[in-house]
Amino acid sequence: MAFLEVRNIEKSFGKVEVLKDVSFDLELGEVLSIIGSSGNGKTTLLRCLNYLETIDGGAVSINGEIILDEEYGDRKNPKNKKISINRKHYGLVFQQFNLFPQYTALKNIMLPLELREKERKKKGLNYLDNKQIEEESLELLKKVGLEEKKDNYPCELSGGQQQRVAIARAMVLKPDILCFDEPTSALDPELTGEVLKVIKELKDEFKITMIIVTHEMEFARNISDKVLHLSKGKVASFGTPSEVFDNPANDDTKQFIASYERMKNE
Ligand SMILES: Nc1ncnc2c1ncn2[C@@H]1O[C@H](COP(=O)(O)OP(=O)(O)OP(=O)(O)O)[C@@H](O)[C@H]1O
Ligand SMILES: [Mg+2]
Repeated sequence: MAFLEVRNIEKSFGKVEVLKDVSFDLELGEVLSIIGSSGNGKTTLLRCLNYLETIDGGAVSINGEIILDEEYGDRKNPKNKKISINRKHYGLVFQQFNLFPQYTALKNIMLPLELREKERKKKGLNYLDNKQIEEESLELLKKVGLEEKKDNYPCELSGGQQQRVAIARAMVLKPDILCFDEPTSALDPELTGEVLKVIKELKDEFKITMIIVTHEMEFARNISDKVLHLSKGKVASFGTPSEVFDNPANDDTKQFIASYERMKNE
């Protein structure tokens, strides 16, 4: 049994089938990169995993426990009540950083923790006080190299810095799996490098399981334990970087890699 098992996911929007029989496994601490050209279902797959879309078929389990299947889409089904709990398995970093503009960098990271600890206090459970929340959040800000920006507002930070704050915020509740949807595609090339470096450091230091949708092929090759090529909503290839990039058995993947190589050499 793998840590994360994604089985036969199906998703349509109206008559358009966007995900078809998508399956893959991930072990604890592994990094998966999802690659593929535009419109092939990469964002939809991440959104389905994170309960931002319902699925039409298939299932997802963590440590053998099913945390998503098609019944989660039915409002009347009691499983729906578990969505807010199950969602906590994931942290999500979007292409646009989505920070709260009215709060400082540090406060943006503290907010999710403040909300959770307030709930814990209400329920009579152990909870972190404000000082502890601030300390934990500052620790994460240090990890992404932005301690000195703690009192700055998002508009006072570069895109790369904002994205690093967003990464720290996604980690503050200690999710099992950190998901990124093209975390660098809104950034200039020089800022892309600093964000990719932070993701690499998080992998090395925390051994956190990650799913990264990316167009950065060199990064995907270097950081990933597994690579998944999504083509027309199907898993065209799934394997180690070397299996997918160097020796793809699948014709769609061969073409995709070849067109990337051509672009690189232009
Ligand atoms: N809410 C929606 N309603 C209808 N169709 C949608 C919706 N969301 C996505 N789609 C369609 O699903 C398909 C896959 O879209 P998706 O955003 O998952 O692609 P992607 O691989 O992330 O592309 P990109 O690389 O451009 O981000 C597209 O044809 C898109 O138009
Ligand atoms: Mg997308």
